[in-house]
Amino acid sequence: MEERLVDPNLEQGDDTLSLRPEKLNEYIGQETVKESLAIYVKAALARKESLDHVLLYGPPGLGKTTLAQIIANELGVNMKVVSGPSIERSGDLASMLTQLEEGDVLFIDEIHRLPRYVEEVLYSAMEDYAIDILIGKDSTAKSIRVDLPPFTLVGATTRYGDLSAPLRDRFGVIFHLQYYTENELFEIVKRTASVYDTKISIEACHELARRSRGTPRIANRLFRRVRDFACVMNEGEIDLNVCKYALEKLGVDSSGLDASDHKYLRTIIDVYHGGPVGVESLSATLSEEVQTLEDVYEPYLLQEGFIKRSNRGRIATEKAYEHLHISYMKGLFK
Ligand SMILES: Nc1ncnc2c1ncn2[C@@H]1O[C@H](COP(=O)(O)OP(=O)(O)OP(=O)(O)O)[C@@H](O)[C@H]1O
Ligand SMILES: [Mg+2]
Repeated sequence: MEERLVDPNLEQGDDTLSLRPEKLNEYIGQETVKESLAIYVKAALARKESLDHVLLYGPPGLGKTTLAQIIANELGVNMKVVSGPSIERSGDLASMLTQLEEGDVLFIDEIHRLPRYVEEVLYSAMEDYAIDILIGKDSTAKSIRVDLPPFTLVGATTRYGDLSAPLRDRFGVIFHLQYYTENELFEIVKRTASVYDTKISIEACHELARRSRGTPRIANRLFRRVRDFACVMNEGEIDLNVCKYALEKLGVDSSGLDASDHKYLRTIIDVYHGGPVGVESLSATLSEEVQTLEDVYEPYLLQEGFIKRSNRGRIATEKAYEHLHISYMKGLFK
């Protein structure tokens, strides 16, 4: 797949530390999550206990890693970070767990991709703060129980459904992060501009917010590219003109859709007469993997109502036709 400016998965250089809010009150949006979290953190601190295990799920780039670090900051503890697929042996996880200090946060990103036998080590660690380690082999092998300090596991996943039930059940707190509203993204763009010490007009902030697909990571990336244009064209100041000009050059349309989204929608409309079309057929026509379509292309198009999913496949909505300036009647008389 060619690199997309609006791909929420791309992290390269994006997540500079200074851009990540460090405390809960600097974290914009996700109001219900923040409210509950503030209470749980306060209660854990008051009882001098570790916070219950937390699962964060939602599309990429919405601030799961950021929120995990904020949890550790608010608790005043250290956070160890590891990614699910990188833990190959149960011994790797065991050694990580035994190195934790009391109250620490262990952040496991992409937790749905933990190998099953590694996951099983987590069960007793989460439930009893203990793990069983096998020593020796064959007939002389015996298992000894090692106690762990109380800790908080924060797991992040983009695919809630791929998590095994026993793992899911061991999280006391489960938060579903939502796409951000335009107003929340407006605040995020404003904050980013002030971190970068860049002048930006209110209209330009709104324009960026509108085109960022509900996703802070995309907002920050578009901001940086537009800032480059402003630097060359407008002495560094981002006004609505520069903003619109830059986004057009970057191939990001008024709803934040790019050439790949257009191609996806056009395929449903032109090749499959508006649908319904199964995702496998789309995958073959577009030469994209089914998982890429489901994880990268479709969530935002669904959320914004450009497509619908039925049990017979994907359907392009009237909104998609309008957006692409194609007469909807064409779809009705197929
Ligand atoms: N609520 C927020 N307020 C301000 N900035 C935010 C917020 N959420 C995320 N960001 C910014 O967006 C960027 C992406 O956030 P983060 O890396 O936490 O996303 P993520 O959900 O962990 O993504 P992934 O699923 O790809 O791991 C960060 O640079 C962060 O600064
Ligand atoms: Mg992350």
